[in-house]
This record gives sequence, C-alpha cells and structure tokens, in this order.
Amino acid sequence: MITFTNVSKRFPDGTLAVGGLTLELRSGEITVLLGSSGSGKTTALRMINRLIEPTSGTIELDGQDVGSIPVHELRRGIGYVIQQGGLFPHRTVAENIATVPRLLGWDRRRRRERSLELLELVGLEPSTADRYPGQLSGGQQQRVGVARALAADPPVLLMDEPFGAVDPVRRGALQREFRRLQRELRKTVVFVTHDVDEAILLGDRIAIMRQGGEVAQFGPAEALLAQPADDFVASFIGGTRGLKLLSLRSAADVPVVAVGPDGIAGWGLVTDADGRPRTWMRVGGGGAASPVEPVGPRGSLRDLLDSALASPARAAVRVDGEGVLVGAVPFASLERHLSVPEDEAAKAVGAR
Ligand SMILES: Nc1ncnc2c1ncn2[C@@H]1O[C@H](COP(=O)(O)OP(=O)(O)OP(=O)(O)O)[C@@H](O)[C@H]1O
Ligand SMILES: [Mg+2]
Repeated sequence: MITFTNVSKRFPDGTLAVGGLTLELRSGEITVLLGSSGSGKTTALRMINRLIEPTSGTIELDGQDVGSIPVHELRRGIGYVIQQGGLFPHRTVAENIATVPRLLGWDRRRRRERSLELLELVGLEPSTADRYPGQLSGGQQQRVGVARALAADPPVLLMDEPFGAVDPVRRGALQREFRRLQRELRKTVVFVTHDVDEAILLGDRIAIMRQGGEVAQFGPAEALLAQPADDFVASFIGGTRGLKLLSLRSAADVPVVAVGPDGIAGWGLVTDADGRPRTWMRVGGGGAASPVEPVGPRGSLRDLLDSALASPARAAVRVDGEGVLVGAVPFASLERHLSVPEDEAAKAVGAR
C-alpha cells in the first residue's frame, strides 16, 4: 500500500504543483491519477520514487516512510515507465531491459534469459532483443519500456502516460494487453493519464486531480461515472457517461437466441465452415451483404449495443473465445439489460 499524507510540493520558483495530497493506493491494484495538463500528476508520481522530494507531508510504502529508505534501495522495488519509452538509444533492447538486473549484479546469462522472458511477456519477438530502440516502432518501444520496468520483478510500478505517444489503434492493443498482464502480475500500479477512457479501462480506482494537485474525487470508475462529486468532475469525464458505464458492465449474463435459417428480421447470419460469423445476408437473397461485428466472451454491454446497432437485423452477435458463433441478441431483448438497477448503482457508489 502507498499512502500520501498531506503531501505538498512547492518548486523553488513558487509553483505549488501538489497541495496537501492525501490518498491511499491499494496493493495489487491499478490506481489512476487522472487530470489535465499541469494538475501535478507527474510530480505526485515522482515523489513516490523520490525523483522529486516533497516540501512537506509523508509518503509511506507498506507503512515505511519513503524518505527514510535509501534511494537506491527504494528504486529497486519500483519500476518506472515514462512516455516515449525513455530507452537508452545506444544499448540493445536486451541490454535496456536488463538495466536494473545489471545494477543488481546478475551475470550475463541470467540477464539474457530474463530479457527474453520479458520480451515474450510483453508480446515482442525474441529477434527484437538485439535491435536498437531506434529500429523499433513507437508501440514496440513502449513495450520494451514496460519490460524494462518489470525486469527485477518490483512490487510497485509507476507509469507516466506510458501509451501517450502511440497511435490510437496500437494504443488500444497496448492497453488491453497491459490489463491482461496485470491480471497475472498483480503489481501495485500508479498510472498517470489525462485520457478518461484509458482511466476507465485500466483503473481499479481513479483519482481525478484538479490544478494544484488536489483530488477532486477518488473511487472506482463506476462510482465516478454514476455519481460525479461536482461539476468539475462531471465536465472532466465529459459526455456519454451512460455509454461509459455500459462499457464497465459485462455482457455475459445477457441471454442469446439461436439464429436459425429464417434469420432475424429478415436477415440471416452466414458462418464459415468453422462456425465463425462472416456476414449478414438478406434471407432469400438480394441486397448487399453487411459485415458482422461480433462480441467475444469479455465483451461489455456497450460492445453488445454497438454490435446490435451496426447490424441490419438490429441484433448483436456473440462469439466464444475462438470466434465461433454462440448466438444473437435482438435489440428488443438487449434493451431490458441496459439500465442499471437502482440498488446496484448505489452499491457501486458506496463500494470501496
Ligand atoms: N521543476 C519544476 N519547476 C517549477 N515548476 C514545475 C516543475 N515541474 C513541474 N512544475 C509545475 O508544476 C505543475 C504540475 O506539473 P506536473 O508536471 O506535475 O503536471 P502534470 O499533471 O504531470 O502535467 P502533464 O499532463 O502536462 O504532464 C505545473 O504547473 C508545472 O509547470
Ligand atoms: Mg506529467
């Protein structure tokens, strides 16, 4: 657990970057610091590994004041990922990843093995190991940055807009992979971003920060979306709060119906030989084929809604982990599952 107690940072020029921050970040969770530019997110993050020393207040790591832990010892237990990767350009990918293991005195072979293991973990080819950062795409460099931070298996991971410089498509892939990775690794992650959707996707809990490093609201995404504490939070989250809430709700419990030869609303679903949905086709022929947007086992209610709206039959299509057709959800039956029951909304707000 990381606790900020009344932590302030005033820079020598008088700027109050963080003012009286009190916050409890739970072990094994991703806590997102969300806020606009200049709200003190990076300053708060860098005070945890003492790249910046607070002016007043205390930060504790599992009950120990970080100010009392020798810096090198503290940082051994804290991985740090920054925007643009921050890789050493004249060192190979493998050498970059092994930065901390080398400082810890691991021998060459053990470092090499660890680098290859981490490349695989973050979804990069082993052949990447001997390239230089300049020979990788931005997204690949970010993966290497994450691998480097994980090299010595630190319990804490600080991530400062790690996917900020990557194009939206690759960014989505990186986010989903990081989420999957975290389900295995269970690190204590502090993740800085100014992207609301990224915060909702990744954060177990989100601290929305306003200028001066003050927390405007702190809680699970459901609570922030269902009940923003004030106008600042509501306007920061922006429109489509209802849709964002749906994106947090699993589609697993929504019953499916079989799509028979008669199809739905005059549209049949064509599958390939393996049973994977290919296109919607008018029953009896005629009319253009229309692409299917299937929803997998981890899909949300928002995905289902989108799948239904994109379909000429107004029916969402569900597939299993292999992409094989499970069934369809006609819009009319989906609608009943879209509203959040009162008591559940209240529970989300009161939770944690
Ligand atoms: N070394 C410094 N000296 C003086 N002021 C600083 C220094 N570093 C940051 N600041 C100021 O402190 C405030 C908070 O900066 P910080 O970098 O923590 O914000 P941020 O939330 O990370 O912003 P961004 O989203 O742009 O990265 C800003 O007003 C910034 O100009
Ligand atoms: Mg910053």
